[in-house]
Amino acid sequence: MLEPDKLRYAKLPLNNGSGAIPALGFGTLIADPIATRNATKAALEAGFRLLDTSERYRTETEVGEAIQEVFKAGKIKRKDVFIATKLWNNNHRPERVKPAFEASLKKLQLDYVDLYLIHTPFAFQPGDEQDPRDANGNVIYDKGVTLLDTWRSLEELVDEGKCKAIGLSDVSLEQVKAVFQAARIKPAVVHVESHPYLPEWELLDYCGKNGIVLQAFAALGHSIEPKLLEDPVIAAIAKRVDKTPAQVLLAWAIQRGTALLTTSKTPSRIQENFEISTLPEDAMREINDGIKSRVRFNAVVETGVPGFIPRGK
Ligand SMILES: NC(=O)c1ccc[n+]([C@@H]2O[C@H](COP(=O)([O-])OP(=O)(O)OC[C@H]3O[C@@H](n4cnc5c(N)ncnc54)[C@H](OP(=O)(O)O)[C@@H]3O)[C@@H](O)[C@H]2O)c1
Repeated sequence: MLEPDKLRYAKLPLNNGSGAIPALGFGTLIADPIATRNATKAALEAGFRLLDTSERYRTETEVGEAIQEVFKAGKIKRKDVFIATKLWNNNHRPERVKPAFEASLKKLQLDYVDLYLIHTPFAFQPGDEQDPRDANGNVIYDKGVTLLDTWRSLEELVDEGKCKAIGLSDVSLEQVKAVFQAARIKPAVVHVESHPYLPEWELLDYCGKNGIVLQAFAALGHSIEPKLLEDPVIAAIAKRVDKTPAQVLLAWAIQRGTALLTTSKTPSRIQENFEISTLPEDAMREINDGIKSRVRFNAVVETGVPGFIPRGK
């Protein structure tokens, strides 16, 4: 069995903001509010020090309650936890960014966040409806604002000090390049779906050369078909090193240079997902070269509409 090592505590340097981001992160896209609160607490107690939420997940209130409860217990302090949230598509207009951000802070019961992301590059009709549709059921987009306009408003939030770092989510390499080139404050993090079926090597290379952290979501493939957790290459490595398939996938993500997000509402899996250890080089090579399947699980990058709705069980 692989000996426990420091991989689970790995941090990646950030080009702006609070210095570094924990590589191993816990996402809170969980349908049930009580499960969200319990999972957030369990994640912090297991050792996770990065939490990811979003106004669109509607979990900020529960995440806020859970972290405040943990902070009050005294063992974990605010400064020890990296907290990220995201601006949703109906709030891309510059005049809507700060109110949306302030609403997120309030729900989280925080006076700053470590990272604020534009959740998708798609601007929807401005207003309080998160999923605006026309009479035919088609999304109503907003052609009156660009991604760069929204980015400028995020830069102002950094200037005000309530948001330490800013980044992009569900973007293409071309979109990252365009914002990077024009930005006064460069994106610190690019948050996209990535796992062995969607390794995004080109994006990772660009991010690495430009001091941007690539944060991979769906690190376990959302646990939907085709099941990455049951991939024969992953299963064989897991057996050989006496770790679980999930632990192999999470270690792979960190060792190749990304940060990652994983989610579970099951306490034993939360603990398991924290207890990762460094894979041997031959295992890394087998995953990089031996897995040929290519799958994108989440269609959000195509339309801005969340392509993955968490199961309520
Ligand atoms: N920007 C975006 O568009 C976007 C989109 C999706 C997700 N995200 C972020 O990424 C986070 C990660 O979510 P994800 O769905 O992508 O995570 P994931 O880790 O790929 O998949 C989560 C699923 O895997 C199961 N699971 C977790 N640990 C397991 C283990 N050790 N063994 C077997 N199954 C396990 C969970 O089941 P149980 O819960 O039943 O244990 C859950 O069904 C989200 O919470 C969110 O913060 C962002």
